[in-house]
Amino acid sequence: MNIRDAYIEFFKERDHAQIPSAPIVPENDPSVLFNTAGMQPLVPYLKGAEHPNGTRLCDYQKCLRTNDLDEVGDTVHHTFFEMLGNWSLGDYFKKESLTWSFEFLTKSLNVPVEKLAVSVFAGNEVVPADEESIEIWKSLGLPEKRIKMLQDNWWPNMEATGPCGPDSEIFYWSSTEPVPEEFDPNDETWVEIWNNVFMQCMHHEDGSFSNLPKKNVDTGMGLERITAVLEGVKDNYQSSVWKDVIAKIVEIADCPYEGNEREMRIIADHIRSAVFISADPAGIKPSNTDQGYILRRLIRRTIRYAKSLGIDLNSNWEVELAQLIVSKFGKYYPELERNAQVVYDVLTTEKVKFGKTLDNGLKEFAKITENLTDKKLNKDLAFKLYDTYGFPLELTVELSQEKGIEVDTEGFKEKFEEHKAKSRQGAEQKFKGGLASSGETEAKYHTATHLLNAALKQIVNENIHQKGSNITAERMRFDFNCDHKLTDEEKSKVEALVNEWIQAGLDVTIQQMSKADAIASGAEASFIERYPDPVTVYSIGDVSREVCGGPHATNTNILGTFKIKKEEAVASGIRRIKAVLTD
Ligand code: SER
Repeated sequence: MNIRDAYIEFFKERDHAQIPSAPIVPENDPSVLFNTAGMQPLVPYLKGAEHPNGTRLCDYQKCLRTNDLDEVGDTVHHTFFEMLGNWSLGDYFKKESLTWSFEFLTKSLNVPVEKLAVSVFAGNEVVPADEESIEIWKSLGLPEKRIKMLQDNWWPNMEATGPCGPDSEIFYWSSTEPVPEEFDPNDETWVEIWNNVFMQCMHHEDGSFSNLPKKNVDTGMGLERITAVLEGVKDNYQSSVWKDVIAKIVEIADCPYEGNEREMRIIADHIRSAVFISADPAGIKPSNTDQGYILRRLIRRTIRYAKSLGIDLNSNWEVELAQLIVSKFGKYYPELERNAQVVYDVLTTEKVKFGKTLDNGLKEFAKITENLTDKKLNKDLAFKLYDTYGFPLELTVELSQEKGIEVDTEGFKEKFEEHKAKSRQGAEQKFKGGLASSGETEAKYHTATHLLNAALKQIVNENIHQKGSNITAERMRFDFNCDHKLTDEEKSKVEALVNEWIQAGLDVTIQQMSKADAIASGAEASFIERYPDPVTVYSIGDVSREVCGGPHATNTNILGTFKIKKEEAVASGIRRIKAVLTD
């Protein structure tokens, strides 16, 4: 049973348009490093913008969460994962949503209703309990004892600003033991498999809630988890999602999975994430900042654990594993096949670089342990080896044992928890920002990038196209192909033309059309492969036509004054303009 295909088929039969996974690196949303949930690329539409594919959507979305990175290695944690999702943008609501979830599970996947339980929002001083969902679940045949009302059933949570609402979670009894009559949400045998969010509210910065223009549904189901529970495995890495990857690692390392589970799970998880990040259209490369840093950490951890399993680092192991992942997922994510060579090069180049750091770490370890007077490695030194040289505690302990040295593992764990709490706070902050952004200022900047693109074509060269862009509430960045540094005259002419168009008060209009028609109509379509068919074409007066996901200002007259702050090279043949809009 292919759960992914069955899911998409089921919702297509119910008039949902399948949309492709958005890139794993969000476009025009610098507040998050990666997409962390299926709904994230849809935030503008959940807030009210019109989606070119209509009001019923479904997809599988690439997601990556790195706040639990250090927990990968157990049976359930992953960094990269896929989320199956279906959405109603002001179309159907609770009844259809819960009924279809129930039908998909019990009819398409043949899950016995006896193995299911649900939770619904219990209500608080701001929002009443979700009685409607309780009634729907009862009418579907869920016994009362399997329906629990919880305060936590609000997504993302009561504190986060942005679109939000009550949710209903569906749980599965993941054991062959008899199913208890009553659902206990604290019993981990009940595994949450699907979340149906009734995204009807907007939580504002000032703490108030208002109703969104439309009542939406946002559902999300983690593919790895549902696959594991339905296949009846306790260890996600023994499900069909991972089994062949683990088998390949066993073959390469020439040692069994039993006894080496942790290392092998980390290698399997991290290399898959590294493959997906480096194949993404964003073109991320290992570096010391942002997404590039995460990519680097994932690859380096893979290498360390490969080394600790005794894999010959000089062999082609990393490419062999990556090839397996590309062949497994290429059907669903064509960018993996398109960018396969880039992926292999990224992995191998980083492997060669890290070889040296790893050796330095081992030297540092030798130095530290030589100078110990009491055969005890304190928490600060153990943490330094972790933080600076990327040594996991296990490696430090293992190496120490060989020298009869005792490591303060408890102290290390305390330090580690403090460190983790800090980075988690950071990640939550970022996610909050992600949901709350894409406001009016970003929309203005977005419209300004289209004007800039059109002005560069008129003033500098008609063959100029956008190669990337990044927008915050403070500024815009626009990358384009150009064989020379812009002259001062070119810059001021471009600036003047954009301002002329702004002052002309041009309307921004939207048309839906097929990709073929969009291209035939001469619309700028640099990243057309990233968009589902049909596409939205944004026109600004008659000066610009671009295929784009929006959102945009509705008229240029609200943009203010456009000013170029900087023009510089970013790569060979690629220039970058940084610009601002002022009132
Ligand atoms: N946004 C919800 C979640 O991530 C449902 O898609 O769980």
